[in-house]
Amino acid sequence: MEIKRESWGSKTGFILAAAGSAIGLGNIWKFPYIAGENGGASFIIVYLICIGIIGLPVLTAEILIGRTTQRNPVGAFYKLSQSKFWAGLGGMGVIAGFLILSFYAVIAGWAIGYIVEAFKGSFFNFTEATSSADHFNGLVGDIYWMLGYFSLFMFLTMIIVFAGVQKGIERGSKILMPILLILLIILMIRGVTLEGADSGLEFLWNPDWSKINAGAILIALGHAFFTLSLGMGAMLTYGSYMSKKDSVPNSAFQIVFLDTLIALIAGIAIFTSVFAVGLDPAAGPGLIFHTLPSVFIKMPGGYIFSILFFILLTIAALTSAISLLEVVVSFFVDELKWKRHTAAIVLTLIISLLGVPSALSYNLLADFTIFGLNFFDLVDFIASNILLPLGGLLIAVFVAWVWGFKRVLPNLKEGAERLFEEYPVVITIWKIFLKYFSPVLIFLVFLHSVGLLDKIINLFTGL
Ligand code: PHE
Repeated sequence: MEIKRESWGSKTGFILAAAGSAIGLGNIWKFPYIAGENGGASFIIVYLICIGIIGLPVLTAEILIGRTTQRNPVGAFYKLSQSKFWAGLGGMGVIAGFLILSFYAVIAGWAIGYIVEAFKGSFFNFTEATSSADHFNGLVGDIYWMLGYFSLFMFLTMIIVFAGVQKGIERGSKILMPILLILLIILMIRGVTLEGADSGLEFLWNPDWSKINAGAILIALGHAFFTLSLGMGAMLTYGSYMSKKDSVPNSAFQIVFLDTLIALIAGIAIFTSVFAVGLDPAAGPGLIFHTLPSVFIKMPGGYIFSILFFILLTIAALTSAISLLEVVVSFFVDELKWKRHTAAIVLTLIISLLGVPSALSYNLLADFTIFGLNFFDLVDFIASNILLPLGGLLIAVFVAWVWGFKRVLPNLKEGAERLFEEYPVVITIWKIFLKYFSPVLIFLVFLHSVGLLDKIINLFTGL
């Protein structure tokens, strides 16, 4: 007997869950930092272009594949192509889900740990400028601290996925996403009303085109993928629970809009604060865990804002992590006929085991490197720099060249009849981008990610 496939309860439920997947550590931790490093406003403009010409078209394609087939990534590609090669592309997504969640949960665990630190008021014991970094190094050097919060985060992720699409993911997103938005707006208002906030805004909005080179453009493109959860079937899986009455292009647009809005607000909140207290904006990965605690100490109301900030970070990471676990779970449920509850528990355990060496990369295994990378960085590199761009490239090629627009368009039209009638040009643009621009540009990101592009450019410029 076929068991009825789960689905979203409403369109808003789907949008919030998908936006929850997109909005994560990428928006709040990574985006402000890379924007600051690569020319502020000019980088943001390049990033917005990347989101528009690559992110939006590929996101539309991914959601559409899911909605049309109502399957997990492996089943979906197989159903449309009847080919093992393309089913393998879905398999790559499932593997990426395993890998990304295993290290994502390590950082998310720090976020939970920092909520506790914020509550304890630990940041207020700092004396010199370095003690915030020392404090961080002390915490991540502690195996029990690392593994404890890592496991707690994995457990929270499991509970939500265990409860199912409507009762877990949708309900969780409907509660968590509004809280996230409110917290972020509070933090932004706090930031811009600080004395000296102007220099932070200037840093973020003043274009500095001299910093825009091929490298910066590729960073923007690569980030467009990660931040929209593209290239590994997360959006495909969420799309598979979507109703045919709802419009895929409109939903994709709303998700992109929310993701971009949150990244920009996070940028404003963080940089106004960092500049107001005169700290270094270019602290990179340490910006949130080293620099921000020192910012909170000096900020009026810093105790409460520090707690709110790390709660916000945890929520953002949680709604992304559930989409990663859901990709893996949906594969075992659809293809191997596992029960959702069993799949959620067993797969969480396996992913947690995989995450242990990543967590230990900051202490016990700090000296253990493969190709010069510690375990954490290696898994991150394979997933984010190889599997995601490769997946995105193949998804664009699949929709435009294999599935073919003749078969794609009738499916896209379902729920989007008005768009087709009133703005057919949007559909034409989508086709052109997906067929030509996306594959070529993503291919360049991919070459850059694996370090080949720089070598080729050097070859031609003779450097
Ligand atoms: N989009 C998430 C973020 O910005 C990360 C993510 C990538 C989630 C891929 C799911 C799939 O943090």
